[in-house]
Amino acid sequence: MAGGDKGPTGPDLSKGVPTGDLPDGAMLAGHIGDDEVLLVRKSGTLYALSAHCTHYHGPLADGLLVGATVRCPWHHAHFSLETGEAIAAPALSPLSCWHVEERDGKVFVKSKKVAATPKTAGSANEHIVIVGGGAAGFAAAEMLRRRGFAGRITMLSNDEAAPVDRPNLSKDYLAGSAPEDWVPLRGDDWYAENKIDLKLKTDVASLDAKSKELTLGDRSKIKFDKLLLATGAEPVRLDIPGVNQPHVHTLRSLADCRAIIEQAKAAKRVVVIGASFIGLETAAALRARDIEVHVVAPEKRPLERVFGPQLGDFIRALHEEHGVNFHLENSITAIEGKRAVLKNGGTIDADVVVIGVGVRPRIALAEKAGLAIDKGVSVNEHMETSASGIYAAGDIARWPDAISGERIRVEHWVVAERQGQAAALNMMGVPTPFRSAPFFWSQHYDVPINYVGHAEKWDSIDIEGDVMKRDCVVRYKRGGRILAVASIYRDKESLEAGVAMERAAAKA
Ligand SMILES: Cc1cc2nc3c(=O)[nH]c(=O)nc-3n(C[C@H](O)[C@H](O)[C@H](O)COP(=O)(O)OP(=O)(O)OC[C@H]3O[C@@H](n4cnc5c(N)ncnc54)[C@H](O)[C@@H]3O)c2cc1C
Ligand code: FES
Repeated sequence: MAGGDKGPTGPDLSKGVPTGDLPDGAMLAGHIGDDEVLLVRKSGTLYALSAHCTHYHGPLADGLLVGATVRCPWHHAHFSLETGEAIAAPALSPLSCWHVEERDGKVFVKSKKVAATPKTAGSANEHIVIVGGGAAGFAAAEMLRRRGFAGRITMLSNDEAAPVDRPNLSKDYLAGSAPEDWVPLRGDDWYAENKIDLKLKTDVASLDAKSKELTLGDRSKIKFDKLLLATGAEPVRLDIPGVNQPHVHTLRSLADCRAIIEQAKAAKRVVVIGASFIGLETAAALRARDIEVHVVAPEKRPLERVFGPQLGDFIRALHEEHGVNFHLENSITAIEGKRAVLKNGGTIDADVVVIGVGVRPRIALAEKAGLAIDKGVSVNEHMETSASGIYAAGDIARWPDAISGERIRVEHWVVAERQGQAAALNMMGVPTPFRSAPFFWSQHYDVPINYVGHAEKWDSIDIEGDVMKRDCVVRYKRGGRILAVASIYRDKESLEAGVAMERAAAKA
């Protein structure tokens, strides 16, 4: 995904560009020395910012200007034009900003601005505890410190690794095309530098919502003033004989991924059980390692339930083009040593088996504590649970979605991070409703699929462009209303769809 290694392109902005090249609403990419810089005129004001997104280096000039923000075309991060702040995930680090001057019919980019230090906020005596070191938990901790939260932050995670870029575990890192140092969301020093007490391999056993106290696996207790539950989801394990063998894996953590990579080094053939996002991304990543891959799944078409038949057929064809063997409308009934037994009586010899049949939200902690549960932890639009001062975010949270008007729970990286960010601000006393259009992306070989909105059921699908040619916008509608939009290489339309959904929800 990284790009932009060819050196700076476009005009030298220190020498100025004609005013006429920059009408209102225009974005122009150029450079200052080695820095690639985006020059923007929005509502009469000129801005100069880094030209590439701080997430995976998306080209912001291909994005969208919305209010006082620029939105990244690849995974919809929002940056403030004024300060460069990454206001909405998945980008977390700010863009650099430069001073701009307009004179004698030209626009000049001048020196780099010095980033402002945040004012401290809240009481130094306050203690916020975050349970979970994943997308939502990390984004919350980062936002608390970014906005100057003065109190203590403790992050408890039963994972052995500090927060990682989980989506990478089924993509570039698994494929062997991303180095290990891409995987952590921040280096180990960052936590101490930011006074975040990160306790890894720490299981939270129970929560007493009334006395605001957690009991850890070793029976020690931790008191909190505010709490964020961000315990995510765990992969569903299949109840079939042979599933507990060392070459049978699920994929959630860095340790899971490392174990698959280790065995993949000597593997000739892999069986992936489940044509889910994780199953199929795993298939693509292992094909990049030149391993024979067989995908076994009960459905007729991969991902049809989410994307409909046209994209389902496309995804199947794409994987077949890359050599994946599908065994659809079938399942694995047993794994006898290295032999996977199919329901239809066939067998496939496999050195490694990866199970990708979905996940279950980890809600036991909240449930046992008596918090309101509705196939997830119920929260209001400020991500607060039924217990005052206790928040939930990410894969476990069921929230009132402003876009669909329904209470939904999704398993998307960007949603988890943004909910963590909203929860952080609410915990700091800055009222912040979570009203983003749900967004996820999935990557299969060189084909990214973006999806905005939420459609569990639809009555019609409109397709603009050509799915098989990898150039399309697919709209899922119910009663004529667009619920969700999937797209391939139509980033602008995807961004515009998200903005239209958010605007419609704001008016409703
Ligand atoms: C391999 C993979 C690829 C993915 N790719 C994409 C993608 O391309 N696009 C997309 O939108 N989404 C993707 N997802 C989904 C996305 O990663 C999740 O939606 C997101 O991580 C959810 O964030 P979370 O904070 O809710 O949970 P998580 O990120 O799972 O974090 C949960 C944390 O809680 C900890 N924890 C749980 N219970 C306890 C306890 N009792 N005590 C202490 N700690 C506990 C866990 O150890 C973990 O640190 C992918 C997921 C996986 C596994
Ligand atoms: S590259 Fe910009 S949001 Fe991912």
